Formats: sequence, C-alpha cells, structure tokens
Amino acid sequence: MVGFSKLTVRDVPLEHKVVLVRADYNVPLDSNGNISDDLRIKASIPTLTYLLEQKCTVVVISHLGRPEGKEKRFSLRPVAKRLASLLDHHVAFVTDCIGDKVVQARKKASAGSILLLENLRFYPEEEANDEVFAQSLAQDSGARYFVQDGFGVVHRAHASTDAITHYVPSVAGLLLEKEVTTITHAMKSPERPLVAVLGGAKVSDKIHVIERFVKVADKIVIGGAMANTFLSYRGLSMGASILEPGQKDVIDAIYSAVRKKVGDARVDDFLILPRDVAVATSLDKKAERKVVPVGNISADEMALDAGDYAISVIVKEVLQAKTVVWNGTLGYAEIPAFAHASARLALALATQPQTTSIIGGGDTADFVLKWDGHDGNSFNHVSTGGGASLELMAGDPLPGVESLLSAPKSATLNSNKHKR
Ligand code: ADP
Ligand code: 3PG
Ligand code: MG
Repeated sequence: MVGFSKLTVRDVPLEHKVVLVRADYNVPLDSNGNISDDLRIKASIPTLTYLLEQKCTVVVISHLGRPEGKEKRFSLRPVAKRLASLLDHHVAFVTDCIGDKVVQARKKASAGSILLLENLRFYPEEEANDEVFAQSLAQDSGARYFVQDGFGVVHRAHASTDAITHYVPSVAGLLLEKEVTTITHAMKSPERPLVAVLGGAKVSDKIHVIERFVKVADKIVIGGAMANTFLSYRGLSMGASILEPGQKDVIDAIYSAVRKKVGDARVDDFLILPRDVAVATSLDKKAERKVVPVGNISADEMALDAGDYAISVIVKEVLQAKTVVWNGTLGYAEIPAFAHASARLALALATQPQTTSIIGGGDTADFVLKWDGHDGNSFNHVSTGGGASLELMAGDPLPGVESLLSAPKSATLNSNKHKR
C-alpha cells in the first residue's frame, strides 16, 4: 500500500480537545428533500467514532449543494438527524457555522458530544477561500485541531479546505487517508488494460482531467451529458440534450493529445463516443426509451442514455479491462428507462471481481449502491469523491490535502503557519 504523506488523527494528541472536522455531507436529495443516499454520512463515522473515543468535543462542518445565499432547502438539519441515527449518539444541530450561536453551543457542549454546524456555503466567503471567514470558523468553534475528512471536496481550495489550515493545526481524517491511499495505490501501477469511463453532468468540472487520462488510460469511454458535449463538438445536432457549450478549446486539446498518443487512425477507438443514444422529449418518469443513431436526434429530443449498440461496446471494453475507473452516470439514471447503460456497466463490473474497479461521484455511487443492495460489496472501491477522485487519479495535487501537516512525525506542530 502507498504511504500517506500527511499526519492523521492518529498522529496527534486529541484527547479531551475541541476538534473541528470537515466532512463532505453533500448528499443527494430527492424531490421531497429527503436524503436519497447516505454513503457520505456513513463514511464519516470511523473518524467521528475515533474522536468520541478520545473524549473530544467534535464540531462538524460541511457544505450541501450549491446554494445562492441562505437557501433553506440546502440546510444540513436532515443530515444531523441521519448522522445521529447512524451513530446512535445525540448530534446537536447549530443553525449557523460562525458567530455567537456557534460560540454558545460549543461552550455548552461537554466532552464526547457532537455538534453539526449549518451549511458553510450559506456564506460566499466559503468558496472564496476567505481568510477572515476561516479564522471565524476556527475561533468560534474553539478548535484546537482541524481534521480534514471531506474527501469529496478536497479538490476545492475553499475556506474549509485551505484557509482554515492557516489558523489551526490540521491533519487528515481516516476516510481521507483511506480514499487517498486506495486510489493512489490503484493508479500507481495499474493492471492493464486500464479503461476510464467518464459520464455525468458536471462537464466543465470534469472535462479538463480527460486530457490527463489520455496519458494514463488505455481507452476512454465517454457517456452521459459529457458525451452530448463531445458529440455536439463533433458537429452533430443534439436537439434539446443537456450539454455544455464553450468547451471547444478543452476538447481540441484532448483530441490533439489522443492523436499524439495513438495516431489519427485510432482516435475513435481510443476515445469512444456512443454511436447511438436513447432519447425522449421530456424528463418525465413515464418517458419512453427510443433508440436512435446519434445523427438522427430531432430538435425536441434529448439524448438521455447510451443506445443499445453503444452499451454493447462499453460492456465489451470493460470485460477486456483489468482496471476500470468509472465516474459519472452514463445517462439520466434517475429514470430506469435511461439507466440501461449505467446498470449494464455495474453488472459487467460486478460479474468480474478480478477487475479492479474504482467508482466515484456522488450520483454514480448512489446509483451503484442502490443497484448492488449490499453496501457496494460487488465493487472494489466505491469512492465518496466525484471531482476529487478524478483529479487524484489524474495526478493533480488536491488543495485540501496539500494544506495539511506533512508526515513524518518530525513535522512541527508549532510551525509559524499557525497563529494560535
Ligand atoms: P457524479 O455525481 O457521479 O460525480 P455528476 O454530478 O457529474 O456525477 O452527474 C450525474 C448527473 O448527471 C445525474 O443527475 C444524471 O442524471 C445526470 N446525467 C447523466 N447523463 C445525462 C444525460 N445524458 N442527460 C441529462 N442528465 C444526465
Ligand atoms: C461533490 O459532490 O463532488 C463535492 O461535494 C463537491 O461539490 P461541488 O462540486 O459543488 O464543489
Ligand atoms: Mg453529482
């Protein structure tokens, strides 16, 4: 196993201290605002349990969604409830993440208690990596240590992943350590062929890592709304499909890297786009699945899944692979009629236990866990990270990991970096 280069909760004396923990509780919510998948909450439990055993007062912070200011539907209150039931331990919810409410709640809290603070992104200062906001997070929580355990968000340089570390000695939690070591180990010298399957809807977030995957992978399969973006770039009419325009420069760079690697003749065999798609004219649950060649999408139709031929190509590639990295659902998988490609891929991976599979992304993990029904045991590693796992696999430095104190244990905890 690859060594972890940062100090972790096990390396510092936390007993009886107030500890601020950054989790990633950005969980999928259904149309009624209920938590539809609690993988990320479950995944935070080993660190929280460890801290409770150390008799810490644990103050947990997270974001949820991408709110514009204080939007009630993005409150973390339902997460506090679910966390309490999973931990079988009271979790006090505080309706702010900085300020007097936090100070009062923390003063009242005894050793061995857990507070969950309200959504960090209710303040624009969080995403702006604002130093004053970070200082308030540190001071108002009274934290003596900061623990980064929100693996899913460490690719962001935000106040709770970067600036905060300027004010409190900062170490990794157990989830962060496990994700980074597992993924780094699998990517260091992967068993080949390595096939990367990339889909989903956060196209502009993820597209830039494809260029680096061109170097690492033996084949890249593109699906989901990512495929719509590529097909549109290739000059096809995508009707009313969800896609991201304005990606020409990035896709130009990807194709030029592919040409350089495999030569002109093999471009479409290396970077595989669907030749047919399943379309519908609405996102209605009752919408019917109609498969058409990618050149035949009408103006009012949306490409919502790979077509049957495209699915057979994806399955064939995956069955030949020894390592598969999958990030982003291959269609609008919330509706079963458009979950065919994602389900067939899940099945192909589950029936090949000898293939190393690393599955990442909030929606993708949600999908495969529901498909699997056994906490993801059919797969090697279901990551809690989406963009974070992709960037790690592509070899990018992660700001939320870089900012933590480095191992070996000789790293000084009294470094000038820390003002308190
Ligand atoms: P992850 O959460 O796994 O990182 P993303 O958030 O990038 O992945 O994308 C997942 C979302 O993409 C899902 O809500 C899914 O319905 C949507 N999606 C995937 N393909 C399509 C498509 N062809 N059209 C519309 N939405 C799609
Ligand atoms: C995720 O779901 O990938 C993380 O929680 C980060 O969320 P973001 O893409 O809104 O920064
Ligand atoms: Mg998502």
